[in-house]
Amino acid sequence: MPRHDRFLRACRRQDVDCTPVWIMRQAGRYLKEYQDIRKAHSFLDMCKTPELAVEVTLQPIRRFELDAAIIFSDILLPLESMGIGLEFSDGEGPVLLNPLRTREDVKKMKGVDPEKDLGYVLQALEMTRNELNGIVPLIGFAGAPFTLASYAIEGGGSKNYLNTKAMMYSEPAAFHLLMEKLTDMVISYLNAQIKHGAQAVQVFDSWVGTLSLTDYREFVAPHMKRLFAALDPAVPHIHFAVGASHMVELVSSAGGDVIGIDWRTPLDEAWNKIGHDKAIQGNLDPALLFGSQEHLGASTEDILEQAANRDGHVFNLGHGVFPGTPVENVSFLVDLVHSKSRRS
Ligand code: CP3
Repeated sequence: MPRHDRFLRACRRQDVDCTPVWIMRQAGRYLKEYQDIRKAHSFLDMCKTPELAVEVTLQPIRRFELDAAIIFSDILLPLESMGIGLEFSDGEGPVLLNPLRTREDVKKMKGVDPEKDLGYVLQALEMTRNELNGIVPLIGFAGAPFTLASYAIEGGGSKNYLNTKAMMYSEPAAFHLLMEKLTDMVISYLNAQIKHGAQAVQVFDSWVGTLSLTDYREFVAPHMKRLFAALDPAVPHIHFAVGASHMVELVSSAGGDVIGIDWRTPLDEAWNKIGHDKAIQGNLDPALLFGSQEHLGASTEDILEQAANRDGHVFNLGHGVFPGTPVENVSFLVDLVHSKSRRS
């Protein structure tokens, strides 16, 4: 079977020759070749210059036997198009310059025309598809409305999401309006990515784990249902939520062909809850890449044993790969997933 087919076949729960593997944040600072380009360009410039985004997308594909590429970009770029200034300061992570606090702020947010406002991402997708020439499929992505809302309201990362929750609990209509606007944006952005060459799309709900099940049901699930129902069904949709072990059934029923899980729940337990009529993606703790290969190998085999070569497993980390990760352990992991899961 050509290397190309595995990932998309697994997303559709078709049989594969071995379990496909890709790594969230696979293009990034743990690679020397990324750092070399980053020395000369800011992160935002890299995202906005298609030639650089293409090059960085391809770097991990050249180095490792990965089964999919993910376009180099960031979930926060569309917020800039909606009128919220964006900066990445070294060491501090993203900063949104004029965070939203009131209903008026939310009302003022602009809608996004992906072709016009995010054309550089669409162009990078097209160019990457050409360069890949069918070696592996290309994944597009967007942030989920709640995760984007929390950045837009907090102005950056947060520990307790108090401003976000304050808006939810004191101005629910304003919060729902914000979620609606973000959902509209994600739908049109991901459908544009599919039109311009993305062969699968992933929605990252990185911070939704801060919510109780009750709040997820009220403030998030209706928007996620609308989002997934409106995506072009021609490609698989991956729905990844971090810290959501307490509500994995609810997250899964909100949409997605493939449910991405973090490392906190055993994969078999999560898959039983989700149901085997959906594919699953995950779920090695990215910190394990800092340990011994013996421990990393045993943990990887444990996940593969839980998946039991059932159709519909895409191997991945339980969250993005950290800067400073030893590169030889990434090669070791990718090759081990393939060799240990080879179907006879
Ligand atoms: O997976 C990939 O290789 C594709 C590229 C990708 C990036 N960001 C590149 C990036 C993807 C899929 C993202 C998504 C993203 N961005 C998420 C969701 C995924 C997750 O990890 O939960 C989030 C929450 C963001 C917001 C964001 N952007 C953060 C928190 C940071 C890190 C800040 C820091 O300095 O650690 C970024 C910056 C960022 N996005 C970098 C990369 C390679 C590092 C930029 C640099 O070179 O300085």
